[in-house]
Amino acid sequence: MKINKVIKERRSVREYKGKKVDKHLIEDIIAAVENKKGLQENIGVSFKFIENGGEAYEKLDGIVGYFGKVIKAPHYIYIASDAKEGYLENAGYIGESLVLKATDLGLGTCWMEINEKESDVKKILGIEDDREAIGLLAIGYAKRENKVAGLFDTKGKSISPLTEFGYPNIEVKYADEPVSSRISIKDIAYLKEWGRKASAKELEDRGMADLFYYMRLAPSWGNRQPWKFIIDGEKIILAVEKDDKVNEKVARIEAGIAMLYFELMSHEQGIPGRWQLKKLEEKYNVPKEFFVTGFYKV
Ligand SMILES: Cc1cc2nc3c(=O)[nH]c(=O)nc-3n(C[C@H](O)[C@H](O)[C@H](O)COP(=O)(O)O)c2cc1C
Repeated sequence: MKINKVIKERRSVREYKGKKVDKHLIEDIIAAVENKKGLQENIGVSFKFIENGGEAYEKLDGIVGYFGKVIKAPHYIYIASDAKEGYLENAGYIGESLVLKATDLGLGTCWMEINEKESDVKKILGIEDDREAIGLLAIGYAKRENKVAGLFDTKGKSISPLTEFGYPNIEVKYADEPVSSRISIKDIAYLKEWGRKASAKELEDRGMADLFYYMRLAPSWGNRQPWKFIIDGEKIILAVEKDDKVNEKVARIEAGIAMLYFELMSHEQGIPGRWQLKKLEEKYNVPKEFFVTGFYKV
């Protein structure tokens, strides 16, 4: 499938068929991603395939996922990384590459956060290395495709559709948006400095309208969509919001996911370039609730 189609198909899947996925298929997906270049060189990222999801589910319940609500899936993939400069963005980028590859092969996935209970998770999953836990992916064949697809699109519902899955307190932003629950492309990109919104026409003139249209379909914690981009000539700066719901770790993982979507779509649109996780001299008036994670150099 073309990458924009894969991005459009991807959803966080929270209900799975009991059917097992061929072990070799998942191993191949992991191998393909492990060989892929990440955002940073020389950072070890590992994936552990948890074949017996049923057993892990029983033990992980209360420990992994929003409010300890683990998603029941036939399998899981545990992601860990060496803790070096830029490792969280890098792991988000590589982890999401796995998600997109799995989507392309007809599998459903959902990221789950691992927070302060990391050592319990490692014990349960029999993880012996010292790498830091990044997240756990549920993986399998999606059940009830339509319902899952509409999770955040249920227009007019007064409660978050997530509550049906046992999450009591997640306020899903933008749930009333008619077509999808994503912010508009007009609210994602600024020109030259913070707050100077790029219109759809200005994005189109730069060949970037499609890029941002698809980029905003990237997953984020609680669908918070924390990203803003500042287009400054050949540099596109990514700033990510911190808020009281997520810690910086999650925000940096989300940044890496966003960087992947941006880069894939940029290349697809014929705009070559690469992300650099470097500090910038210019400040661009980025407000204090946001932090700059890097820039894309065309
Ligand atoms: C870092 C990260 C952690 C997440 N953790 C969870 C989680 O613990 N439980 C869950 O149900 N969904 C989790 N999600 C999925 C988001 O809720 C989902 O991506 C977002 O609501 C947008 O929906 P979509 O992925 O279907 O487009 C997580 C996503 C990310 C990127």
